[in-house]
Amino acid sequence: MNNFIFENATKVYFGKGCVKEYLSCLSGKYGEKVLLAYGGGSIKRNGIYDEVVSILEKAGKTIVEFSGIMANPTYKKVMEGAKLAKENHVDMILGVGGGSVIDCCKAVSLAAVSGKDVWEEYWANPGIIDFEPLPLGVIVTVAGTGSECNGGAVITNEALKIKTGRDYPKCNPKFALMDPEYTYSVPAKQMVSGAFDILSHIMETYFSEPNEDNVSDDISEALMRSVIKNLRDAIKNPKDYTARSNLFWTSTMAENRIIKLGKKCDFECHQMEHQLGAYTDCNHGFGLAVLHPVYYRHIYEEGLPKFVRFAENVWQIKREDMTDQQLAKAGVEALADFIKEIGLPTTLRELGMENQDRLKEIADSCNLAQGGYKKMTHKEILEIFKECF
Ligand code: NZQ
Ligand code: ZN
Repeated sequence: MNNFIFENATKVYFGKGCVKEYLSCLSGKYGEKVLLAYGGGSIKRNGIYDEVVSILEKAGKTIVEFSGIMANPTYKKVMEGAKLAKENHVDMILGVGGGSVIDCCKAVSLAAVSGKDVWEEYWANPGIIDFEPLPLGVIVTVAGTGSECNGGAVITNEALKIKTGRDYPKCNPKFALMDPEYTYSVPAKQMVSGAFDILSHIMETYFSEPNEDNVSDDISEALMRSVIKNLRDAIKNPKDYTARSNLFWTSTMAENRIIKLGKKCDFECHQMEHQLGAYTDCNHGFGLAVLHPVYYRHIYEEGLPKFVRFAENVWQIKREDMTDQQLAKAGVEALADFIKEIGLPTTLRELGMENQDRLKEIADSCNLAQGGYKKMTHKEILEIFKECF
């Protein structure tokens, strides 16, 4: 196992009724004025907005609303939130939504305090945060990114056509409230997309060195089996509390740094998806679903022992008379079959791409991850994109 330091500053309150039980007390710690941040309005339709506002009002808070945070939040939106926060002298941010809302809020928490251009300072390149960001608390409404328990924030700079994430421990939310019942109203397509994002985070971590026995890989296998089982259950019955809670907590477990301890981590598929997103604004989980099987067909021979474990321990494939290569490949094909079974897209065309004109430009703009089994080149990424088309 590689050396590591572990800390996670977010306090999680998980379970039925947790918002009613804890929000009032938690928001009391950070002052009177709250920037209430949310997305395109789902929380108004499913009743979460009314519940949250009523709790904040009863607690005597002044609410400043920051709404309309889009999927794949933009730097422009971050600046809008920072302006609101500064003009109204808010004491804390409360983000209510999924990864897009939470990521945008993290960037706002920096931009509202820093006097600098935060894109240049913290996203274009890794920076050093030598001040306290505005305190951020989150109420998570969809399982997927795990953003509630890390410092990661993925922001799209539309002008530069770059979608990129940085992880700053100072951006970890102070608290995260997670009521699985809040996820019941997530549309089926988004639930499946979020679940695939969870699976992707685990795979991108698992398929990297070290290969020798390590507890992070053992936890990852259990988490992958859990996502597969519980997603199947939640598709059958969207109000299956057990399935929804397991998906919700798995999404946090995949990205709260625990399974990354001692691992190199790959995340090349995320690099590719982020640039597809920067050019096409595609849904994060959909983009990942298209890319993963094709990417793994390109790299499984370099990471053969781990792909064999994946086939046997995650997909329960029996070796019988298969060679390592055949068994590893069978695991990748089981993943591809699962993607079809759960109804996710399998081609870039299905994501709305009409031709291959910009594929080279997109491929050339992708970061090359350092921790995977095979070092990618922009040429090979272009081949992968073409196979995905
Ligand atoms: O905007 P609203 O109206 O709220 O609707 C959202 C949105 O349309 C809807 N939704 C959320 N909760 C709902 C609900 N609809 C009904 N009922 C509910 N309870 O779901 C849609 C998707 O929401 P979004 O926040 O965009 O999804 P997700 O959580 O998948 O976040 C995606 C973003 O996070 C980034 C992605 O790249 C993308 O920008 N990521 C962030 C990471 C991180 N910070 O650690 C890691 C990830 O790999 C990822 O890159
Ligand atoms: Zn992701």
